[in-house]
Amino acid sequence: MSLKRRQLFKFFGLSAGSLLVGSTATPVSASEKEFLPPTAEHPLILSFNENPLGMSEKAREALSAAGERASRYPFAQVGKLKELLAKYMHGTPDEILPTHGSAEAIRAAVEAYKNGGAALIVPELTYSDGSDVAKRNHMPIIRVKMGPNWSIDVAAMKKAAAKEAIRRPVIVYFVNPNNPTGTIADNKALFDWIKSKPKNTFFILDEAYGEFVNDPSYQSCAQLVRDGYNNLVILKTFSKIFAMAGLRLGFAFGTKDVIDRIRDHVAYDVMMNQATIAAAMSEIEDEDFLTKSKASNDESRSILVDALKELKIPYLPSETNFIFIDLKKPQGEFVQHMKEANIWVGRPFPPATNWCRISLGTPAQMRYFVKVLKEFREKGWV
Ligand SMILES: Cc1ncc(COP(=O)(O)O)c(C=O)c1O
Repeated sequence: MSLKRRQLFKFFGLSAGSLLVGSTATPVSASEKEFLPPTAEHPLILSFNENPLGMSEKAREALSAAGERASRYPFAQVGKLKELLAKYMHGTPDEILPTHGSAEAIRAAVEAYKNGGAALIVPELTYSDGSDVAKRNHMPIIRVKMGPNWSIDVAAMKKAAAKEAIRRPVIVYFVNPNNPTGTIADNKALFDWIKSKPKNTFFILDEAYGEFVNDPSYQSCAQLVRDGYNNLVILKTFSKIFAMAGLRLGFAFGTKDVIDRIRDHVAYDVMMNQATIAAAMSEIEDEDFLTKSKASNDESRSILVDALKELKIPYLPSETNFIFIDLKKPQGEFVQHMKEANIWVGRPFPPATNWCRISLGTPAQMRYFVKVLKEFREKGWV
């Protein structure tokens, strides 16, 4: 179980207000020239897996132009957004459900499939939203031990799910690539499991970080939806590569019957925010921006990986916009020292208590982070 985002205010020793000021004031420019060393008021935020480039110019323009329509309900715009999301997923609009961040999609999907006393099956080390929702719904939660190097042990997950499914429905919450590890699951094992249509079992595939993956063996489970499987839903977010964490947009992609069922658990799927819709429609079609964001992330990852190798700090091979590093001791002191250097990293992710998640900033930000990391080494802190 990881710390919930709402607990982070406490974790960073901040009021909600000060976190807001910090977040909005963070230097986010990609340009080397414009990089400013962080201060207490303008910390370098490497803790939320956001896109450090910020939204594209085009999306910013679309966002402000949406002011014209702020007094109007967004029915027509939501229709267009769904068409674009469907195109992105190579599906159809009735296979799409837009939500307020993927957080809402996770909640709605779990609640749509919880009837009959369902249990949630999750890997022991993963993003906490799935189990948080299950807990709020008083559902049993089965946490499956990780495999070597904190990998998701698909065989063990399958075994645990099959055992539960004999007596009650099962929801599998599967984040791929996983957070906080940044690694991908065994694709064939995962596909085979879903395709075997295990009885009483529904899969929620959270693919928040899919756009960052380089490993050619990775394949989105969206193909299974397109093949007509109705025992899964894919969840996506605009908070990561699309750089819209503050605008709150996510969506679910599933066969029509799955989407109809999940839709019953959101207030309105025709009522998204005009500004959010406008920005999202711009970002999703902006190949230059997405390519630039991915290239920047790849460069930042290499900068950090090179430093980790040089300093002999173990890390997991990341396919995402963050890297999980092994401090070989509880992470609290390191996080505190970083905070004193005006850099926010990590949060506790039990049971990996000696590990710390570093979100990737711009290349300039990562060079600065590496400089601080090397100073920490000289001081014997890492
Ligand atoms: C795996 C995963 N899913 C979902 C989310 C939540 O995304 P959103 O901002 O769309 O609610 C996050 C955020 O960090 C995440 O890591």
